[in-house]
Amino acid sequence: MNMSRTTSTLRIQEIVAGYTPGHPVLRGVNLVAKPGHITVVLGPNGAGKSTLLRSIAGFLRPSSGSIVLGETEISALPPHRHIERGIALLPQGRSTFPELTVTENIELGGWTMRSDRKRLRRAVEAMFERYSHLRELRNKPTGALSGGQQRAVEIARLIVSDPTVLLIDEPSVGLSPIVASQVYRELQALKAEGRAILLVDQDVRAAINVADYVYVLNSGRNDIEGDSSAFHGDLGAMVRRWLGV
Ligand SMILES: Nc1ncnc2c1ncn2[C@@H]1O[C@H](COP(=O)(O)OP(=O)(O)O)[C@@H](O)[C@H]1O
Ligand SMILES: [Mg+2]
Repeated sequence: MNMSRTTSTLRIQEIVAGYTPGHPVLRGVNLVAKPGHITVVLGPNGAGKSTLLRSIAGFLRPSSGSIVLGETEISALPPHRHIERGIALLPQGRSTFPELTVTENIELGGWTMRSDRKRLRRAVEAMFERYSHLRELRNKPTGALSGGQQRAVEIARLIVSDPTVLLIDEPSVGLSPIVASQVYRELQALKAEGRAILLVDQDVRAAINVADYVYVLNSGRNDIEGDSSAFHGDLGAMVRRWLGV
């Protein structure tokens, strides 16, 4: 990645956010995501994990609390400012435009380079170097690709702008175990490049295996947290507690 860009720690403090005024989904969440770390957020369905990532990406404006990247408060900035600051979101579910080609979908992630066509083309080319299996698919609509290939396009779209903070929402859903393990390996490679990775996952075991630090959210608040090693032994008990059994 572009080493001239400084990587910064993301700090979330007491954020309150939601979709309807007076009915917050996040009710005071605290979290730190460091460069070169995979920070995992777990929790039951509806806990607010996706809402947290959307708030950090700027798609939802918190009603209170702060989101600080390095030294800069970013919670009041519009989404495109977040992208310019190096924060990129891979949303939950399938998110490519199926009728657009692989190249076009990846180009969408290079929005900040839109005024410099040459630079954008180089950046997309670098993605075909990195994910060489996508090169021969470049002119195909993504709707014609397998789930794993589409996820690779999404990851290329995510990183084509060389972001420093990656917000990743349930990346292995719907993938075969082999393809899912390739996705987790890629997350580890992105971490090794010094990026801060904030990973939301429903696959508790796989996420803890790649995590450096783990937060659990419940009902829009912080529950337990700790180094991933502390979670290895007790997964069953933790998940049973979410289910209330
Ligand atoms: N676009 C939306 N509009 C209104 N409510 C939403 C929206 N997205 C999520 N919610 C609500 O916010 C709560 C948290 O959802 P979400 O952040 O998606 O949880 P998680 O990702 O942990 O499963 C849920 O009660 C959900 O119904
Ligand atoms: Mg979600």
